[in-house]
Amino acid sequence: MLASKLLLSALGATAVVAAPVFPDLNMAAALPGSIDTMSEYFNMLAQKVQESKSMAAAPVCDVSKAVLPQSTPPLPPPAAGLILKHVAIGRGTQNYTCANETAAPVANGAVATLFNATCIASTYPELAKLLVKVALQFNLTQSEASRRLAPSNLAISGKHFFTPSLTPFFNLDVSDTMKLGEVPCAKNASSPAPPNAPVGQQGEAAVPWLKLTAKPGATGDLQEVYRVETAGGSAPATCKGMPADFEVQYAAQYWFYEKSQ
Ligand SMILES: *[C@@H]1O[C@H](CO)[C@@H](O)[C@H](O)[C@H]1NC(C)=O
Ligand SMILES: *[C@@H]1O[C@H](CO)[C@@H](O)[C@H](O)[C@H]1NC(C)=O
Ligand SMILES: *[C@@H]1O[C@H](CO)[C@@H](O)[C@H](O)[C@H]1NC(C)=O
Ligand SMILES: *[C@@H]1O[C@H](CO)[C@@H](O)[C@H](O)[C@H]1NC(C)=O
Ligand SMILES: *[C@@H]1O[C@H](CO)[C@@H](O)[C@H](O)[C@H]1NC(C)=O
Repeated sequence: MLASKLLLSALGATAVVAAPVFPDLNMAAALPGSIDTMSEYFNMLAQKVQESKSMAAAPVCDVSKAVLPQSTPPLPPPAAGLILKHVAIGRGTQNYTCANETAAPVANGAVATLFNATCIASTYPELAKLLVKVALQFNLTQSEASRRLAPSNLAISGKHFFTPSLTPFFNLDVSDTMKLGEVPCAKNASSPAPPNAPVGQQGEAAVPWLKLTAKPGATGDLQEVYRVETAGGSAPATCKGMPADFEVQYAAQYWFYEKSQ
């Protein structure tokens, strides 16, 4: 994919989606800082457009150039023999339950729509990082069909959810044109999000970065999944004032690795 087309999809201005439905950016509810976040994003985008104009050869999408972001302490690297298959930006909620006012919230799965960010993460990693932050300022539309990762036009590439037994699951077979497989996972390693990681809509801390490994039943040669560049999603420290079930909005990058052929 050409850089110009890629940057247009990051801008959300493209004919790829005939009638884009603009999701709700509730200005009255917008958090202090969200306008700054958006300016920062669009300024970076403008700068990339400018740079690509002055380059003799504009960069093209090359997945082999993508570099997995690292936290401190670093997560274990992908196992030997694995190659990057897909990068998605996930936008959704982390769910929690509360037993009573004095208990601590307990994680109860998550649900997210996955958007194809493979090219943007390999070509413009700083933009992909900022897109996670800016995407958290917008709520997803109720209708899945019209769902966008505002302000971009990235295509939907999958779904993330938890099975009834609380196994994290990724389905990358949802698109008609691209079937990348499905993978039930188990947590292999965790590392705190960096101190300057983007906070959530109510100031919630960013959920940790994770390495997940495939459980039996994966398809498409999917072997490992990393959750990195997280934004928001953490529960409050205690259940005080919280309902029995609640959701915290979050966004993250998911990096999928497969066995090389
Ligand atoms: C997102 O939705 C929540 C309710 O689910 C609402 O409180 C908040 O204002 C919305 N945020 C934006 C930016 O529209
Ligand atoms: C969508 O994902 C596939 C598989 O990772 C990748 O080959 C393709 O370049 C991606 N498209 C974009 C626009 O990122
Ligand atoms: C609140 O819930 C916690 C966790 O389930 C439990 O250990 C504790 O006894 C409960 N406290 C009260 C006052 O019910
Ligand atoms: C994480 O994966 C490595 C490599 O497969 C394995 O040796 C280790 O036991 C795993 N750790 C956990 C906590 O699952
Ligand atoms: C939690 O996640 C599920 C999807 O698994 C969702 O349908 C549900 O409404 C969410 N929220 C709560 C408060 O349970």
